[in-house]
Amino acid sequence: MGKIALIAGTGFDGSEIFQTDEEMTIETAYGEVNYVPVSMPDGTEIILLMRHGKDHHIPPHAIPYRANMMALQQLGVDKAIGVNAVGGLRRNQHPGTIVLCDQFLDFTKARPFTFFDGDDGRVVHTDISFPFCEELRTCLLQAAAKEGILVVPYGTYVCTEGPRFETAAEIQMFDRLGGDVVGMTAATEAVLLRELGICFANISLITNYGAGLLDHLAHQEVESIFAANKEKVLKIIARAIPDMQMIQHSPCCGR
Ligand code: HPA
Repeated sequence: MGKIALIAGTGFDGSEIFQTDEEMTIETAYGEVNYVPVSMPDGTEIILLMRHGKDHHIPPHAIPYRANMMALQQLGVDKAIGVNAVGGLRRNQHPGTIVLCDQFLDFTKARPFTFFDGDDGRVVHTDISFPFCEELRTCLLQAAAKEGILVVPYGTYVCTEGPRFETAAEIQMFDRLGGDVVGMTAATEAVLLRELGICFANISLITNYGAGLLDHLAHQEVESIFAANKEKVLKIIARAIPDMQMIQHSPCCGR
C-alpha cells in the first residue's frame, strides 16, 4: 500500500505535532523537491511537503506544482491531504471555521496545470467531475466528529492566481457562482494529483472574510488566525491518518 502525504501551506510547520525527520531532497523531471519524512506514533511514515517552502518563500503562483506532485508519486504516495488557509465567502462562516471542500472553481490563469501538455504527442482529457476523494473526505469528517471538532462537511474552493488578494467585486462574483472559500493552490494540486492517480482530500481553514466583506485584508491576519486554529486541523489529520491507511481502493482515481 502507498504512503500518505500532507501538503501544508501558510502558517504550518508539521514539526509542531509530528515528529519530523531531516528535510530530504528528491529529483524529478520538473526539478528538485524538498520534503520531510514524518514518523507517526504507530511507526508508519508519512511525507510532509511544505508547498511554500520551509520558510514560506515561494508565492502561490510560483510553486513548482508539477515537481511537487511528481515527487509525491516517486515517493510512493497514493493519498494526499492538502491543508489550506482560505478566505471565507459566507458571512456565517467565521474565521476559524474548517471546511472540507469537495469541489472547486478554477480561476488560475498563468501556471503549469497539467502533466498532459501534448509535448509527447498524446491528447489526454482527465475526468475531474469530482476532484476530491470521497473516501478520504469521509475519514476527515469522521475524525473531526471523534475529536468533537465542528467542520463544514462540503464546500466549493475558488482557486485564484494570486499572489494578490481579490477585489470586492471578484468576491461577490465568486459568491454568486457558488464558491464557499477562496485560496490560491488547491485546484492546481487537485488536477495534477488526479492526473497521477493520487487521491486527494482538502481541509480548508478560513483565516479571514473575503475582500470587501470586512474593511481590509492583511497577510498577518491570515497567519495569526491560522496559528490560533491550527491545533484543530492537526488533531483531525492525526486522527484520520490511521483510517486513511486502511483504504486500499478508491473509485475517485480508478484504483
Ligand atoms: N484570498 C485568497 N487566498 C487566501 C485568502 C483570501 O482571502 N485568505 C487566505 N488565503
